[in-house]
Amino acid sequence: MVSADEKELSRVVRSVSSADYWEGRYRSGGNSGKGSYGRLAVYKAHLINCLVHREKIETVVEFGSGDGHQASLFAIPHYTGVDVSSHAVDRCREAFGKRPGWDFVTAEDFVPSRQYDLSLSLDVVYHLFEDAVFEQYMHRLFAAATRFVLVYSSDHEDPDRAVHVRHRKYSDWVRDNIPGWRCLRRFEQPYPRIGDEDPAGSSFAFFRLYGRTNTEVGDSAAIPGGAGSGL
Ligand SMILES: C[S@@+](CC[C@H](N)C(=O)[O-])C[C@H]1O[C@@H](n2cnc3c(N)ncnc32)[C@H](O)[C@@H]1O
Repeated sequence: MVSADEKELSRVVRSVSSADYWEGRYRSGGNSGKGSYGRLAVYKAHLINCLVHREKIETVVEFGSGDGHQASLFAIPHYTGVDVSSHAVDRCREAFGKRPGWDFVTAEDFVPSRQYDLSLSLDVVYHLFEDAVFEQYMHRLFAAATRFVLVYSSDHEDPDRAVHVRHRKYSDWVRDNIPGWRCLRRFEQPYPRIGDEDPAGSSFAFFRLYGRTNTEVGDSAAIPGGAGSGL
């Protein structure tokens, strides 16, 4: 249940753009949030690393790459991190600048001049509270991929959940607006949020893997939570 005070606070925060919210958060020493640390980060990285390995994925782009802690757990040969916050991009360039095949760019400077095997969105979609920003982000996410798009997000409607959070049923939007792609699989998430319990170690988010309509994914049993999961 969201109180009247929380709704008012949410309204005030949303008078600042989502981009400004993140830039301000990083500039004041903040990080990417609880989902980028601890067991949730380990789970996300493990699933991604398994997928990259099983599907022989060489090139990955992530939209909303954050402060770099989550990326530090990735075993990915060629990785481009894109973020709306120039401060976050600077932090990542400092941390990973010397890693061959890795680079970081701001969302403003990103030029869609090439495509990648896999396009990633991790803990970003439910932070895009402006409709136009959400739609532009989703088009960019899918346009960047040749083989797979992997989204880790909540996927239900709850527009007033919290400050800087707007849950959306994004999978319906993808179905209706991104032709040529389909959800291949959804993965059960091992630490689901139940009520207000353990907000640091649990999440509303879970993975959906999208592929071109003619794509098959490899050995699902090798990817955690992959076997037998419905869409
Ligand atoms: C909760 S953090 C997640 C960071 C990272 N993906 C992870 O899982 O650790 C959300 C990130 O999305 C970025 N972001 C927000 N809106 C964006 C947009 N429209 N385009 C690209 N990045 C965006 C924020 O700056 C922030 O770094």
